[in-house]
Amino acid sequence: MDAISIGLLGLGTVGSGVITIIENHQDKLMHQVGCPIRVKKVLVKELGKDRAVKIDEAHMTTNIEDIINDPDIDVVIEVMGGVDKTKEYLLQAIKNKKHIVTANKDLMALYGSELLTAAKENGCDLFYEASVAGGIPIIRSLVDGLASDRITKMMGIVNGTTNFILTKMTQEGLPYDSVLKEAQDLGYAEANPASDVEGLDAARKMTILATLGFSMKIDLDDVKATGITTITEEDLHYAKQLGYTMKLLGIAQRNEGKVEVSVQPTLLPQSHPLASVHNEFNAVYVYGEAVGETMFYGPGAGSLPTATSIVSDLVAVVKNMRLGVNGSLAVAPQHEKNLKGSEE
Ligand code: NAP
Ligand code: HSE
Repeated sequence: MDAISIGLLGLGTVGSGVITIIENHQDKLMHQVGCPIRVKKVLVKELGKDRAVKIDEAHMTTNIEDIINDPDIDVVIEVMGGVDKTKEYLLQAIKNKKHIVTANKDLMALYGSELLTAAKENGCDLFYEASVAGGIPIIRSLVDGLASDRITKMMGIVNGTTNFILTKMTQEGLPYDSVLKEAQDLGYAEANPASDVEGLDAARKMTILATLGFSMKIDLDDVKATGITTITEEDLHYAKQLGYTMKLLGIAQRNEGKVEVSVQPTLLPQSHPLASVHNEFNAVYVYGEAVGETMFYGPGAGSLPTATSIVSDLVAVVKNMRLGVNGSLAVAPQHEKNLKGSEE
């Protein structure tokens, strides 16, 4: 391989971070994959926008065909968001034998199994580390690091925007609306921030984690999600006075052979380790029968942390290409069970 050619779908917060890391870490990447990585084409909605990173116009397009039908492109990195159209693009790319790296939890929570199956059938990799907890390698840890253990429970803060809002409201007494705006300006929030503040983004991430951790097909519709929209500055003020901190917690646990997954605002004693996870940071506790309690902590949103996971996935794809093997982070389980424990 002389070089690896990338098609990048999206050049917003995360896409800009991907370009920055590929440019700034060329030496490290060269050492990892043994050849240069080139971004051949970038898909955007609108050409001519002012952007955080500048790309030569010849490498920009608004036409997906320029990427999925280009035989030189080896890997498609999807950081545009959205579900239906994006799924169509990725399935077409897979059909055209392109490996996929995505940060899209909405898509993976709903259609991860279908996409992983399509990738496997076409001899392609599909990696999605950035879809949960930004820069924390939590998916890889579940799939590889804890592969031998039986997970009993996972609990954590998996949405950076809401954690940022709750932190600023609690610590600085700032109003909800202005902090949400700040989170949007910093690139933490979803295109539609209702996903963040209503708990849906966290529900999607917990669905992905629970599917991997419990080796069961978890249906997003079965995940109960409550967000932070009804939490007031007074609630947080009184909680603080009583020695508590409010966090939006995702919980997934085995209960009498079934798995229950939920997301809700939760009061934690200030001494609890999750109470000191601030701003856009995330943390996930994973309890295993053999390992006991583990905790994964780090930046859960933002351009460079998220892009780190994406480019690391890219390295894994290229290593697989060199070995002539496929190894998506998790292939669709051969023998799936649904959330209630019954076999499909
Ligand atoms: P963003 O800043 O809104 O960027 C989206 C990019 O995709 C833009 O460049 C946009 O083009 C392009 N795009 C969107 N729809 C398109 C379409 N239909 N056709 C062509 N181009 C399209 O979003 P982001 O924050 O980078 O997030 C991207 C993805 O990463 C989402 O799935 C998000 O959930 C996920 N993610 C984000 C973070 C984070 O911290 N932001 C962390 C983890 C995962 P224009 O620039 O022309 O508008
Ligand atoms: N909007 C998401 C969050 C981005 O705030 O956590 C990272 O997935």
